[in-house]
Amino acid sequence: LDIVVLAGGISHERDVSLRSGRKVVDALAEAGHNVTLRDPDATLLPYLAEHRPDVLFPALHGSSGEDGSLLDLLAGLDVPHVGSAGAAARRAWSKPVASSLVRDAGIAVPASIVLSHESFRELGAPSVLRVVQRALVGDLVVKPASGGSAQGVTIVASPDDLPRAMVDAFTYADVAVVEQRIFGTEVAVTVVDSGDGPQALPPVEIVPTDGVYSFQARYNAGETTFFAPARLDAEVSSAVAEAAVLAHRTLGLSDLSRVDFIIDSEGRPWFLEANVVPGLTETSLVPLAIEASDRSVPEVYDALVRNAAR
Ligand code: DAL
Ligand code: MG
Repeated sequence: LDIVVLAGGISHERDVSLRSGRKVVDALAEAGHNVTLRDPDATLLPYLAEHRPDVLFPALHGSSGEDGSLLDLLAGLDVPHVGSAGAAARRAWSKPVASSLVRDAGIAVPASIVLSHESFRELGAPSVLRVVQRALVGDLVVKPASGGSAQGVTIVASPDDLPRAMVDAFTYADVAVVEQRIFGTEVAVTVVDSGDGPQALPPVEIVPTDGVYSFQARYNAGETTFFAPARLDAEVSSAVAEAAVLAHRTLGLSDLSRVDFIIDSEGRPWFLEANVVPGLTETSLVPLAIEASDRSVPEVYDALVRNAAR
């Protein structure tokens, strides 16, 4: 097939996307396809309209790819693509929207408060602190309402650190989420659907060297230890796999996603977020999950493009 992989873009995760895109190009070339990598700019639509590839494989992370806007534009071209459609991408990209839909589907979601930058300014730090302390106890996680790769995310153990953490989150989004920190084992579940319904790959357990799965811990080899499959009891492992597939379906995602959880000491999976275009770099979780399954990375991406082209 003639495939165009989209990577780069103008989001905060541009470099990560270029790394993902190169890995996807390599894997699809290995599977025997004719693959081109394009960094989307103003020439993308005319280029696609003229060349009409068989399939697009968007490997765009962050706002340019995961918020659905580019996918909506591409929908007009009628070139098939791997991955979720615009509306589903928007639902998952907004952490507050995704959390409430997934909670309504019966999956545990950490308690949280959502605050816009504007109301933060109007209320002022002392009032915000009171509001947060009335609603949430213990350690908190502050994050931008949309974003990826842990950018703008801070773990807050002392109330004094909350305002600063919120200001950091507002550099990535107009809205911040203040969430109860759940302690336990961090796992990521890749969900793949190449035509026969969404299936969970083996959960991957994440153990960052310094305890926090930060941007550095994600993209520097050796900064995180992964266990693929995760060291979970069979029962817990299938519960988290089921929850991942349910979250993928609830949000209306297609083809490929990665759903992240914390498993608490009682074996209960808590939903953190669903990634519309999960990282596909050499240090990312999706390739690890595929390798822990009975398929190879080229096989899975090949199945995804063939299914999209059908
Ligand atoms: N946002 C990064 C790419 C991830 O979810 O893996
Ligand atoms: Mg993410």
